[in-house]
Amino acid sequence: MRIDVLTLFPEFIDQCAAFGVVGRARERGLLDLRGWNPRDFAEGGYRKIDDRPFGGGPGMVMMVEPLRRCIRAAKQDAAAAVPVIYLSPQGRPLQQARVRELAALPRVILLCGRYEGVDERLLAAEVDEEISIGDYVLSGGELAAAVLVDAMARLQEGTLNDAESAVQDSFEDGLLDCPHYTHPVNHELGTVPEVLRSGNHAAIARWRRQQSLGRTWLRRPELLTELELSRTDRALLDEFRRWQEHPAGPDTD
Ligand code: ADE
Repeated sequence: MRIDVLTLFPEFIDQCAAFGVVGRARERGLLDLRGWNPRDFAEGGYRKIDDRPFGGGPGMVMMVEPLRRCIRAAKQDAAAAVPVIYLSPQGRPLQQARVRELAALPRVILLCGRYEGVDERLLAAEVDEEISIGDYVLSGGELAAAVLVDAMARLQEGTLNDAESAVQDSFEDGLLDCPHYTHPVNHELGTVPEVLRSGNHAAIARWRRQQSLGRTWLRRPELLTELELSRTDRALLDEFRRWQEHPAGPDTD
């Protein structure tokens, strides 16, 4: 997959993408990440990319032309249409299902705004989708772009070492992830649940599913209303809830 990021700070994206899973995806040739600076497409000695907002008010607005030229340049060698995504708090909240769809595309262009925003005419003409990473305001789109790059990179086939792990993640089936434990078994902070040490794979799978259901019910109950739970799942969740009410039962958090 190729991702072009348009930002006044291309080095920032480069840094974020140098480590961990994203770094590995790049090393393995699974992710081609390219930074573009709209300032390189601005005119005049000052390479001006922003100006004061019409109607007054604080801050500066990014101008149409440098961004438009930058987008055109990033698209130049594209064989097919490349969606342009603008990261902004006004966008649709990002969810794993959308990450999965985007990660399956051969190319996307991410546009990062700074200052008070981007001239609306550029957004209307050139941007296909606006995405927010949450209901809070960042000082620019770079961190949001880095979040999206990371989420897409780890889904590129061949990136994760354990092919299973992306499927087992939180949200892949609409539920939160179950708890995880490692050595030592006994610690002053607690003991690893017995079932996980039993070697009984069916019992372990059942426990994990129940914990996922229970955690989702406790922490993000609104997610459950969007799911059609099977009979088995409903029975597991009922049991979990009973244990919550009478906490002598198995480990919960
Ligand atoms: N830019 C500034 N805030 C943002 C947010 N919450 N999500 C995406 N892009 C942003």
